[in-house]
Amino acid sequence: MPVAINIDGEIGGPEESFVSVLDRGFLYGDSVYEVVRTYDRSIFAFEEHMDRLEQSASRLGIALPERDWLCLQVDATIRATDSTDCYCRMIVTRGPGPLTLDPTTARTPTTVIIAKPYEPFPDWTYEEGVKVLVPSIRRTSRASLDPAIKSGNYLNSVLALGEAKAGGYFDALMLDDKGFVTEATTSNVFIARRGTLFTPALEYGLLAGVTRGLLFEVCREAGIACEQKEISLNELLSADEVMLTSTLREVQPVVRVNGNPIADGRPGPVSARLRALFREHVTRLIAKAPVR
Ligand code: PDD
Repeated sequence: MPVAINIDGEIGGPEESFVSVLDRGFLYGDSVYEVVRTYDRSIFAFEEHMDRLEQSASRLGIALPERDWLCLQVDATIRATDSTDCYCRMIVTRGPGPLTLDPTTARTPTTVIIAKPYEPFPDWTYEEGVKVLVPSIRRTSRASLDPAIKSGNYLNSVLALGEAKAGGYFDALMLDDKGFVTEATTSNVFIARRGTLFTPALEYGLLAGVTRGLLFEVCREAGIACEQKEISLNELLSADEVMLTSTLREVQPVVRVNGNPIADGRPGPVSARLRALFREHVTRLIAKAPVR
């Protein structure tokens, strides 16, 4: 089947897969999730994503199923699709319960795994680069709902992306409440300045992206300086290059922010090199990973 959906261990197609309207994932976004992808049937950086899922769940007090069981279910769901390159989303909600916010009333988490063909970003996004908006809405502060928790509550990013799309932008890049750069709606951000890469440190309130973490290793191996620090809007606008990173997009150049061109308004050599190095890293890791 092209799209396979696994609900608590039962795999079916989209027409036959349902969760209760009383599920807290539906009612409150009271859930955690991860998105992984396969390259040539191997799940990329699976352990890193499982670690983050466990950290997110533990911070919300959601009981995950056993890791081994979850891994088997992910494998089975991916295998149920006909694709060698898959997108796979794992969601665990706090489960159904009575209509109250009280989290202690839900006792049986719901596990949903959705696997479908991976749809690459269009070539033009890499060749020409994308335009992003710094929206008026700020990234949720760590003191309210820490963006390091990958929960199913993405309203902050939904509103930011809505503002960006309404203005004709590809994505939104949010600031924190003090005006420092955090991350885009589903990706992290790096800037390049005189040969050094910078990315906002975790204390500015962002998801510790798996791609972001692997890029630190890639940079270390390639001898590219890469630092985590605070990045102001001015530093972003005056960077030599800006790029977005995530599991689904790898490294994607940003050529305009709020209509201002970044350098000459064309993708630069650092983002292209980083993507090529990342691809090599993927190939090496995939060669070592078990075929699923
Ligand atoms: N998004 N920041 C946010 C808010 C994200 O949602 C994501 C991932 C990232 C990048 O993380 P990673 O490198 O581990 O993919 C950063 C996934 C792809 C999604 O929700 O579709």
